Amino acid sequence: MFNFNIAKLFALTLLAPPLAQALSVPTSTHDHAHNHEVRRSLPDTWYQPEDHAVKALFRRAPDDGNDYPPVGSPAWSARFPRSTPDPNALPQEWLDALAAAEAAGRIPDVPISSGTPNQNPRYPPGVNPTSPTVCSSTYKCRIDGDIWDGPDGVFATSFDDGPQPYTPKLLDFFQSHNLKTTHFMIGVHILAYPSQFMATLESDHDIAVHTYTHPYMTTLTNREILGQLGWTMLIIHDSTGGRVPKYWRPPYGDSDMRVRAIAKEVFGLDTVIWNRDTDDYSGNATLIADHMNQWLPGPKSPGLVVLQHETSDVAVDGFINAYPSIVSHGWDIVSVARAIGDRRVYQNAAGSRSNDVVPAGIIAIGRSDAPSSSSSSSTSNLSSTPGAATSTSFSSTSGSVTDLPTTTIGTSPQNQASQPNPAPTSAAAEQLVGEYRLLSLSVLAILLTTCLLS
Ligand SMILES: *[C@@H]1O[C@H](CO)[C@@H](O)[C@H](O)[C@H]1NC(C)=O
Ligand SMILES: *[C@@H]1O[C@H](CO)[C@@H](O)[C@H](O)[C@H]1NC(C)=O
Repeated sequence: MFNFNIAKLFALTLLAPPLAQALSVPTSTHDHAHNHEVRRSLPDTWYQPEDHAVKALFRRAPDDGNDYPPVGSPAWSARFPRSTPDPNALPQEWLDALAAAEAAGRIPDVPISSGTPNQNPRYPPGVNPTSPTVCSSTYKCRIDGDIWDGPDGVFATSFDDGPQPYTPKLLDFFQSHNLKTTHFMIGVHILAYPSQFMATLESDHDIAVHTYTHPYMTTLTNREILGQLGWTMLIIHDSTGGRVPKYWRPPYGDSDMRVRAIAKEVFGLDTVIWNRDTDDYSGNATLIADHMNQWLPGPKSPGLVVLQHETSDVAVDGFINAYPSIVSHGWDIVSVARAIGDRRVYQNAAGSRSNDVVPAGIIAIGRSDAPSSSSSSSTSNLSSTPGAATSTSFSSTSGSVTDLPTTTIGTSPQNQASQPNPAPTSAAAEQLVGEYRLLSLSVLAILLTTCLLS
């Protein structure tokens, strides 16, 4: 009997990771099991329409040779760069797509700007950043088709630089008010905070691209831009069951005709800037509140596209504290991705709940650190339609050249203080390993108890 239990224990310990997933389903009254299912096989249909531009770059099929390891697992992490992507180690399909777009003359030959810490990137002498051929958004030039303004009457929300340890607080607040928002995510932060990433996806928020390591994009070569966008697209794609992001926001709002063309022509991404900056990176709650108090009683046309971050309690509280005033002034609060264009969040799916793509293996790693109320948001099943509680009827808008933002991008002291987010430290990686160890240990403890009781 004793030997049998030891043998059983040993065998089961080897199976700890899959069991951990089964055992860590929250013990609430809701049925969460369907959301934590590890799907080992993919449906036998293509996720992307046959004629979709990005299909060749982000293919999914039952026979594509990939097994899409669970989000947060070591095998999952191993698929993506740890830091700034190497421009000489990019998937051939991306390089071919870039070469084809360049050969077709669809990528303008804009000179690369040079970056100086805490200053706006500068173009070579004689290059006018606001000329139509360059049109740098850092210098407030609006490229037709880029998104700066919201629909009239809409407070279009988005939060940059996640996922982060502060993400669950944000998800909780949005959940309790039945709201969704768009998260412009950084690739290395997805690697560092997989449980916050999954909580965001499972809460039916929008996941969009904010590059892999948050550089000034106009300072990069075409290949470097390809890597920054491509790897962020891929980690989102592979971690959401094949959803291809539709929107990206350039770090510091720094883009131009060349950068924007690579995003659009190679990856199908639309560029979202903003027309109001909370300066929440300053950590100054009074400053954020002062901005809100100025904007909210103001004109409803155009609608607001507000720059916010999920990088600190002060930043997250900036929205939470302003919420009563946003509502009392009659603004419709809508995620920016659902407020603009055709209101689809992804190129191949309306949202996280639409059933045209199905999440691949998702491990319930680190669920214990997510607040229970945000877990409860995952009660709807995958075949239900995306929440539209806050949507209203509006037309899509694109930037108009006459409508300059009231705030300066990248030139105010607050913006200069907005440093790139550091790449995840080894501490973050250690945290990941630690979470695994903790899971395995709890499983071991549960199994031991079970064996002793049986
Ligand atoms: C915070 O912002 C307020 C309002 O703009 C300003 O008066 C105050 O000096 C700022 N505080 C700090 C510490 O910068
Ligand atoms: C799942 O979605 C289907 C279709 O929308 C619906 O009929 C069913 O009640 C849902 N189940 C749960 C548990 O939400």
